Amino acid sequence: MDHFTLRDGQLYAEDVPLARIAAEVGTPAYVYSRATLERHARVFREGLSGIERLHLAFAIKANPNLAVLRVLADAGYGADVVSGGEMARALAAGVPAEGIVFSGVGKSRQELERALDAGIGQFNLEHEPEGMALATLAAARGITAPAVLRVNPDVDAGTHAKISTGRAENKFGVPISEARAMFGRLATQPGMKLRGVAIHIGSQLGDLAPLEAAYTRVGELIAELRGDGHDITHVDLGGGLGVPYRPGDVMPSPAEFGAMAARVTRGWNVELMFEPGRVIAGNAGVLLTQVLWVKPGVLHPYVIVDAAMNDLARPALYDAYHAFEAVAPNGRRMTANIAGPVCETGDTFAMGREIDAVEPCDLGIFRTAGAYGATMASTYNSRALVPEVLVDGDRYAVVADRIQPETIMAAERVPDWL
Ligand code: LLP
Repeated sequence: MDHFTLRDGQLYAEDVPLARIAAEVGTPAYVYSRATLERHARVFREGLSGIERLHLAFAIKANPNLAVLRVLADAGYGADVVSGGEMARALAAGVPAEGIVFSGVGKSRQELERALDAGIGQFNLEHEPEGMALATLAAARGITAPAVLRVNPDVDAGTHAKISTGRAENKFGVPISEARAMFGRLATQPGMKLRGVAIHIGSQLGDLAPLEAAYTRVGELIAELRGDGHDITHVDLGGGLGVPYRPGDVMPSPAEFGAMAARVTRGWNVELMFEPGRVIAGNAGVLLTQVLWVKPGVLHPYVIVDAAMNDLARPALYDAYHAFEAVAPNGRRMTANIAGPVCETGDTFAMGREIDAVEPCDLGIFRTAGAYGATMASTYNSRALVPEVLVDGDRYAVVADRIQPETIMAAERVPDWL
């Protein structure tokens, strides 16, 4: 459920007409709903109410905007970060250092040092050399680094190949078959408090079965590690729960997900951690855009909007579907292609899709753009970096400026020898 709804024939974000935001901020622009973010944060937590010791870390790669992070920090969420930049954002937004989990397959030594100095809550180790380096850095500081070992359970998550992470051939984690021996070597390092395991098998998962299979393997591994004499107190089960993008999509609810997680992890006697991203932020944001032109096509007309693949990369990258709606629907429908202004055929949001009939100057939204939207934006084709707006009831704020090409150019220079 979200708070982007039609009222008197006009789409609103909570109590603010999207047309007002378009008039005052311009388009394209991302618009987030605070009430929706808070609702999703609450519903996800409630779904996991069967779990005794729980830590929720929002995967901030899904939406690292400082205002969004503040809303989620206030809802009691920590942060799953994958870079020094994300860690800096989480801290700046007010996420307590103890609530930060540092995942990521290529943490640099400098990033590890900064995270140790910041006193973050947990390092999710991706491989043995990283763990050894972390232990050395921590020992040199006279501290111990709280860490878990990310294992690759070799489970097919049944999602798009580019966002699947739990197959043996993916680059993430260590093979579960080698985890036991590696755990033994790492756990004995001075400077290291290796206290559990982590997994994350993929994103936009619409089926609980692969998650259940992966969690079950983790349960077996915990028993083996305990049998080896290790103290296992923390297990991070990652993120991945999918959201509906298309009308009619049915996804497992947080309650169904939570019931499965509680059942599979019963008796583990650990603090369980989850790293949800999309399920919290996805439906809490839309990309607001204006129709520039409607031009004839061979089969269907092209609706050319002012948003493009640089603003919302998911359709071009993953053939992702984002529902399109007119901000002031006139009741008529049309079958059209929707494309942006970028000079690539891939800059196409939809082909031959039935949508609300629109004309030049009409406003529209792409839904479910709150996760992996603005954060993946670029300035390709020297377009401005898309701004972000947060709505709260009948007020809104621009929470990220539109960065103009002139500002980007100001950071470039032509050397005097040219
Ligand atoms: N934890 C780890 C270690 C992850 O790698 C990810 C996502 C998450 C948590 C959060 O997963 P979520 O709950 O959001 O599914 N750009 C792609 C998605 C990439 C996801 C990468 N990892 C997209 O737009 O679909």
